[in-house]
Amino acid sequence: MDEQQGEEEARRRRAAELHRAIDESVAGGKPPSSPREFTDQQARQAAAAPSSRESTAGAGWTDCGGPGRWESDVPVGTRPLSWLRPSVLWQSRNDIIARRLGDPTDTARQAWIERARARAEATGTAPDFTFTLGEADAVSLLLLGDTGEGDASQYAVVPSLLAQADDVHAAVVCSDLIYPTGDSGDYRDKFYRPYRALQMPIVAVPGNHDWYDGLHGFMLHVCQLEAPTTPPAGRGWRGWLSRRLWRVAGVVSPSDLEHMRRLRSAPGQLLDPPQPAPYFAIDAGPLRLVGIDTGILGTLDAEQGRWLARVSRADERPKILLTGKPLLVDGRQKPCPIAGGGSVDDIVRDPAANYVAAIGGDIHNYQRYPVSLPDGRTIQYVVSGGGGAFMHATHQIPRVDLPFVSEADFRCYPLRGDSLARYSQLYDRRLARGRGLLALSPAEAASYMGELLGLQPTRGARVPLGRRARRAAKLIQPLPATRGFHRFVSEAFDWNDPPLFKSFLRLDAGPRELRVRCFGVSGCAGTEDTPPVEDEFSVRW
Ligand SMILES: [Fe+2]
Repeated sequence: MDEQQGEEEARRRRAAELHRAIDESVAGGKPPSSPREFTDQQARQAAAAPSSRESTAGAGWTDCGGPGRWESDVPVGTRPLSWLRPSVLWQSRNDIIARRLGDPTDTARQAWIERARARAEATGTAPDFTFTLGEADAVSLLLLGDTGEGDASQYAVVPSLLAQADDVHAAVVCSDLIYPTGDSGDYRDKFYRPYRALQMPIVAVPGNHDWYDGLHGFMLHVCQLEAPTTPPAGRGWRGWLSRRLWRVAGVVSPSDLEHMRRLRSAPGQLLDPPQPAPYFAIDAGPLRLVGIDTGILGTLDAEQGRWLARVSRADERPKILLTGKPLLVDGRQKPCPIAGGGSVDDIVRDPAANYVAAIGGDIHNYQRYPVSLPDGRTIQYVVSGGGGAFMHATHQIPRVDLPFVSEADFRCYPLRGDSLARYSQLYDRRLARGRGLLALSPAEAASYMGELLGLQPTRGARVPLGRRARRAAKLIQPLPATRGFHRFVSEAFDWNDPPLFKSFLRLDAGPRELRVRCFGVSGCAGTEDTPPVEDEFSVRW
């Protein structure tokens, strides 16, 4: 056994011991006591590694050291989630039914909200679903989006999250907690188990996948509310057909539920009282965080729209919108319509509402657009959906050239060149049997993207492109990629080995300032405790 293999073996043994200790403590009814059980304190305090903007090692292309110790935490027998598997597509059929035969979300949400209101009345908690977190003038949060695949790409993010968890008051999950269909029974391996060492409560906004079971799993595990599972109650032949085809939510037994909850049952991990509803406002120190529920189709019902206007304008604090559908993504505005008129973006831009940022999941990468408004304010529009699921390509984001934000101010992770290089490897593996015909090096991919969009590569200089590399890039990169086969390519080319290009945010707010950092997660052993800062911005007030 050479030195490298020895180190690898020691690393695996240490990780296995730690996780066995956790499983034993949970089995004995005792939750894990501290995230320090999982992490190396010295490594946690080390400076962040160089980012992908600075070095190939930062991206995970070189000096990776293989997968980190997260690998041994992936539940034994986990089959990587494949979006090409017919059973997965069939389980997700409620999406098609909602789009083609009528969306039952608003009616179902109304029923959930009635239950949530009744509970708020009975317990004397705030009727507008507001609650508090953090200290009087400070709050720190972790934010991750689109987490719930339950395979390696989700577990790979956890050590880096733990390394950034000091003094954090809560974690926020922005949409799609559970793939493919939000099922209650999937919460063990896709929610409780991966985050069992995260010593903070988790709040969440639901995404479209969480709605594929009528939101039952989300409401049970996140809001602790239950209701009978029923198919949609539409009228006419559409209603009849959707009732026949609708996939009704699964249920879990009380003992399964108890065992799942025990995995995250330390006092510091629970919100008491629980999250009041799928939409909510958090008074978090100097900020108000407003979480909305955009259902399956990315819209708001009229009642939620009125609630959003109320909680946004009734409080003077700077605000952050948390959503399952980003308002500006892939260079396009998606204002999120509200039934009865207006949009979420209208409210976000209203000076009386005082929003400083709008952060959304749904698209599985990181994007930031600092939008300049005519009145001189800047609102940070952020996509943060790289928290665990397959990666959406960034090389298909066109050059950002909008009247209110330019390419020079735009940031994304992974870099477009790294995204193209990673996809080219996957194409090569699947379509050219790994012979290298379609594979591009990171430098070639960055040079091609630079040529295509009229930009200098962010990292390093342009390299000459040979005929083969140019042909491969032309085949793989086509823009725009919103139609036909390419629309599904990101899902089809899911992978679970480094570099993974996952990401999450850490938000720290004090009396006069908010600081937001985006941490990149390659999945490499060398950087799992020192995730690089891929982007950073601050807002002062
Ligand atoms: Fe998603």
